[in-house]
Amino acid sequence: MTAAMTAIYPGSFDPVTKGHLDVMRRSSELFGTLIVAVLRNTSKAPMFDIDERREMIAQAVSAEKLPAVTVTAFDGLLTDFAAEVGAQIIVRGLRAVSDVEYELQMSLMNRRLKPGLETVFLTASEDVSFISSRLVREIARLGGDVSGLVPASVLARLKERFGPGVEGKA
Ligand code: PNS
Repeated sequence: MTAAMTAIYPGSFDPVTKGHLDVMRRSSELFGTLIVAVLRNTSKAPMFDIDERREMIAQAVSAEKLPAVTVTAFDGLLTDFAAEVGAQIIVRGLRAVSDVEYELQMSLMNRRLKPGLETVFLTASEDVSFISSRLVREIARLGGDVSGLVPASVLARLKERFGPGVEGKA
């Protein structure tokens, strides 16, 4: 039997999707504790600021009743943050073969920076494997229906910004 481990699930989460929540639920069941680490300063200008991104995740995690999940923001190197919070595992989701190149490179680089910090990949559940934050942002901006792709906390904020079309009520 393995001892309970602390895992960290890093990302931009701009915004969090049902795909991310699927990874959070499954990885929090695998590991004792899951820390969702939201990157404060992404290289791209985010649609939602760090407080909004964190709040939307916290609301969704609470609605999904995931008690082993905590949400926090981080800056700087992921490997430094993992050491700070005592995480032994990085969790990332894989949706398609196209994700693999980028994810492989990051995991190898993180291992070089901090040997012993392992990256574990969870393959996306089939019903959410086509969802990405980038497509959610694009569809919402253009007034399309994103209900079913994001949790209620995100849908509410997208509706405030882009109108009722985002929940299919245009
Ligand atoms: O959701 P994303 O944008 O694909 O997540 C990327 C993330 C946040 C995991 C990655 O950009 C990251 O870890 N950034 C922190 C800075 C860092 O450690 N960079 C070196 C990565 S090998």
